[in-house]
Amino acid sequence: MIHLHGPHLLIIIRLGSQLVVVASSPAIAMEILKTHDKIFSGRNLPYRCFQIIEMKQSSLTMSSQCNDARKFLRAIGHNFISVSGVVKDGFLEQKKCLKKVINHKVSVRARIFPYDIVVFGDGNRELLIAGTDSTIITIVWLMAELIKNLDIFLRLREEIGQAIKPNSTSLDESILSRCEYFQACINETLRLHIPGPFLVPHQALENCILNNYLIPKDSIVLVNAWAIHLDPNNWEDAASFKPDRFLDSKIDFLGSCFEFIPFSSGRRMCPGFHMGFRNILLVVASLVYYFDWSLPGGEDLRNLDMTDKFCTTLKREKPLYLVPRLRERFHVG
Ligand code: HEM
Repeated sequence: MIHLHGPHLLIIIRLGSQLVVVASSPAIAMEILKTHDKIFSGRNLPYRCFQIIEMKQSSLTMSSQCNDARKFLRAIGHNFISVSGVVKDGFLEQKKCLKKVINHKVSVRARIFPYDIVVFGDGNRELLIAGTDSTIITIVWLMAELIKNLDIFLRLREEIGQAIKPNSTSLDESILSRCEYFQACINETLRLHIPGPFLVPHQALENCILNNYLIPKDSIVLVNAWAIHLDPNNWEDAASFKPDRFLDSKIDFLGSCFEFIPFSSGRRMCPGFHMGFRNILLVVASLVYYFDWSLPGGEDLRNLDMTDKFCTTLKREKPLYLVPRLRERFHVG
């Protein structure tokens, strides 16, 4: 049974005994992720494997509540992947973190975990899985948009070329992070092709009034960021790839602009957003700056198929096959 409230901005679906709430407006997203952040910070654990106590305790993404153990894991994870930790003093920071992890493991092993496992080892692997998929999906969509829009590709290449010192042989991320058009291209990709269209499902830890409706404890709460990102009420010409909209704009992905929430907001917000963004910058800068690209068989780039496919993440329906050619100026000898 489905109840629609308002102009389809709050949908309540009953799946058997489970209530699922879907929010599709920036205002309701803000209610969930900011105003009632604590109440909606739970996770639903639908699968048998997540009922395993160690998984619950050691997983950042699936931990059902924001308890102290989870806050600790998140703080350490954040240090591992934070911007200062890698750019400025990565080695030192990571050593400090490792020490904390070891101390954490020793101190909590007996209390929380029934046997000797390097719990943060699992946490790290999870960080890699959580981060790699979304990052790669974004890189692939950005490359597809750049290939399809040659003027944007060339403008981006020009910006990167101007930012690099004349005799520099490598692309430095501190320089790339000053490329405003590049950042706008990444933002626009995250808007138009958000990897996690419903974020990761949240769960109500208590009863709560949302938009004048009672949302009972244990309801699954989905924020439809995909709909918010494509809503013409929030974005002009919402279906087009226009990085310029992010230039001279106050909108960013840091979690306070609820019309743009690719990394979510609040206490469940993605802790890897800096790292994800940096990785996209580095990979795409190399691809754009050093190579020319064509489609197999010399097909017209403008005809590139942009159909997507939803399966927990939003990927391209068909893989992106491209033919790289090293630009002449980088040929050696
Ligand atoms: C383009 C890249 C990325 C995007 C778009 C992205 C997006 C997201 C989103 C939407 C969530 C769910 C937030 C919520 O439930 O409200 C999330 C959670 C998470 N992400 Fe990312 N992410 C990216 C990269 C990364 C990276 C590089 C890492 C780590 C290395 C990472 C680690 C995590 C973790 C651990 C969580 C679970 C947080 C929690 O439940 O408290 N992500 N991410």
